[in-house]
Amino acid sequence: MKNLIFIGPPGAGKGTQAQRLCAKLGVPQVSTGDMLRAARKAGTELGRKADEFMAKGLLVPDEVVIGLVQERLGAADAQSGFVLDGFPRTVNQAEALDRMLQKMGRRIDHVVLLEVPDELIVERITGRRVGETSGRIFHLKYDPPPSPDRGENGERLLQRADDREDVVRPRLTEYAAMTAPLVAWYSNKGLLRRVDGVGALDEVTAALFRAIGAN
Ligand code: AP5
Repeated sequence: MKNLIFIGPPGAGKGTQAQRLCAKLGVPQVSTGDMLRAARKAGTELGRKADEFMAKGLLVPDEVVIGLVQERLGAADAQSGFVLDGFPRTVNQAEALDRMLQKMGRRIDHVVLLEVPDELIVERITGRRVGETSGRIFHLKYDPPPSPDRGENGERLLQRADDREDVVRPRLTEYAAMTAPLVAWYSNKGLLRRVDGVGALDEVTAALFRAIGAN
């Protein structure tokens, strides 16, 4: 069983590498950011509430995301493993995840910390484009799509509303204040695997697979 967590600053490459790892392991990617954006697009009450925080680059309240993850990890396709991308993001969320997994008789195998310095983050985030239906992540310079506004199958490419420089700054501040403490938390449990997120995409993927013994 492979139960993994990805942590790292916004734009570090968590989603990109999680998509590659999930394809290799045959387990679902569980991205709280994607789930919240889907709820916002669907116009649900939860989506509207989440957007008040996301638009400002702030974390959505713990109880909202904990409920989403609890439901998602109970689904049939998550029973043979999962890659959690963007959750937990606070110690409170990590404690809730521990309780959830304990009840299910499961445990985390690896916590991957993708390390990228702040000075690279703004360029990565402002150059990001995402396939409207596939969710495939591109970068205009580092992982270019066939054209600046169309993906492989002609799908539209979107730019996330929070991928603006003025929203990236508060996202980095939230990461440092609320999420960075998880590094020590998971290190103390012997679960932390540090991966250098700087370098070509394939190099980072190779380092990631080595770090979790997935070669
Ligand atoms: P979320 O969607 O999780 O965003 P994030 O954590 O800020 O991370 P990103 O998705 O921005 O980046 P990433 O690390 O996945 O990078 P990517 O692979 O795309 O959260 C959004 C919001 O939702 C939060 O601000 C919060 O409000 C809310 N939220 C979500 N989860 C929550 C939770 N648990 N609790 C509370 N609130 C929550 O890569 C970025 C770009 O770089 C891409 O263009 C990619 O092509 C490029 N790239 C990747 N790797 C490389 C490389 N090696 N070299 C060059 N370019 C690269």
